[in-house]
Amino acid sequence: MEKKTLVAVAGAVATSLFAVTKGRERLRLSRAKHRSLGGHVRMAKRVAGQIPYYSHPEERFFRADGCDDAVAARRRDGFRRLSELYAERFPTTLALTAETRDGLSDLQFTGRYRVPFPFAEVVRARLPVGAFVARTEGVWLIDLDGNRLIDCTGSYGVNLFGNDFYKDTLREAVVTAEPLGALLGAYHPVVADNVRRLRALSGHDEVSFHMSGTEAVMQAVRLARYHTGKRRLVRFAGAYHGWWGDVQPGIGNPLPADHTLTLAEMSEEALRVLATRQDIACVLVNPLQALHPNASAPSDGQLVNSARRAGTDLDAYARWLHRLAETCSANGIVLIADEVFVGFRLAPGSLLRRVGVEPDLITWGKTLGGGLPVGVLTGRAALMKRWRDDRPVDICFARGTFNAHPYVMAAMDSFLRRLETRPVQALYDGLDAKWDARAAQLNAALADEGLPVSVANLSTIWTVLYTRPSRYNWMLQYYLRAEGLALSWVGTGRLIFSLDVDDTLFDEIVRRFVAAARAMQADGWWSGPAVSDKQLRRMALRESLRARLGR
Ligand SMILES: Cc1ncc(COP(=O)(O)O)c(C=O)c1O
Repeated sequence: MEKKTLVAVAGAVATSLFAVTKGRERLRLSRAKHRSLGGHVRMAKRVAGQIPYYSHPEERFFRADGCDDAVAARRRDGFRRLSELYAERFPTTLALTAETRDGLSDLQFTGRYRVPFPFAEVVRARLPVGAFVARTEGVWLIDLDGNRLIDCTGSYGVNLFGNDFYKDTLREAVVTAEPLGALLGAYHPVVADNVRRLRALSGHDEVSFHMSGTEAVMQAVRLARYHTGKRRLVRFAGAYHGWWGDVQPGIGNPLPADHTLTLAEMSEEALRVLATRQDIACVLVNPLQALHPNASAPSDGQLVNSARRAGTDLDAYARWLHRLAETCSANGIVLIADEVFVGFRLAPGSLLRRVGVEPDLITWGKTLGGGLPVGVLTGRAALMKRWRDDRPVDICFARGTFNAHPYVMAAMDSFLRRLETRPVQALYDGLDAKWDARAAQLNAALADEGLPVSVANLSTIWTVLYTRPSRYNWMLQYYLRAEGLALSWVGTGRLIFSLDVDDTLFDEIVRRFVAAARAMQADGWWSGPAVSDKQLRRMALRESLRARLGR
């Protein structure tokens, strides 16, 4: 054969080998994606872009599941009573909320997404939720009208030890930091203390301070890319890691995150991808997902039926984390444990370390700030280094004006010193068992009355599940508020308890919760025709299609 021909044949063979390898890689990747839309973020974004706005007029609002006239009338009466009760009970709080809404984007956003959007207009007009609180007294929130509500919001996870605990850390921080005021750049001496304690807690060599969990995650990923020379970041379906674009590749982010791979969690296929690809810099894991692997943070705004599922098997999740860590380590991938949410909540430090996994980097935040905004990254020295000895100009930049702010550092110091005390350490003894028993207590009380509601939990982090298909489960949040249980804007999707909730108060929470569900049942919201969740989803899809066709 001529030399030219040989070269051409070799080229063709190489091209087809490359194509085969690429094809195999693609196939492996597609198998490692979770089958839900949460596992296919681009597709989810495309679908989201096609869903038109429509709103149920009052007449349809009460019978969107095709219920009969009698049930619709019960719902209408219940809704009116609830609406009158809110107006009577929360006048000042609601007036200030209404006055502020137009100028506060966040308030407009949360107000819009408390319930599925076709129902939102009527709910916003008739059942507005107050956004203001005058003060806290332990687990009680007191609004501008003097109403006392039990705090089930957990302040997005920050409130672990109770509102009073953070009042103490903040008070102490003001005294400690006051001599420096807002001096930045130079450190308050408590920084040295924080570094020492965080090194011990994390088992890591170094610490960096940031202003939010989002920023700590950004820095962790940036360092992983810098040191591995690779671009790809892997996150798992549904897992939240803050609102930076690269960790929020789907709905919510206007740009595609081209370097992010979203894989299925607790999946052999995902491990195969991690073991074979050579372009992955890091894997981010959020152990909160142990409560609902591959599902996103549940919010009542998405409750179109009763398909929400959750339940924790911490042993199985720990086994997964071990295998994940082994795979990452074998293939030179940086394992980042994002413990911004669960850090300190299930253990006096890292949950991954509690189950025997040593991540390369850990991000921390929320409660660690002792009540002030913070993000922290800890890691091995080789990964935390922001320069190269042999290429001094090729640095990995990270700053932030308010990093290591004296007041934040002082509040963190107060938090960490309290964490070491006996009474606080004792709170962790039998913690999971205690909260599992409390979830079982509530579930038994709900089952005793035949109410179609139950809860699932990861220690103090709870979510409400619905056991009978319904389009109206999101109404429960309004009955719970009427019973004096304060919820965050995601409603029954996430309840977060602080560790100062004692047995007596918990009994009271159970009583109120059951009363709310009972009232909702009496008002007919769960009395629609017997349909499956699948049929309810189809019903919503048909509505959507009709709206799209302009009917
Ligand atoms: C696991 C996790 N990572 C990161 C973040 C972002 O933290 P922040 O809201 O402080 O930016 C959050 C916030 O909820 C979180 O839960």
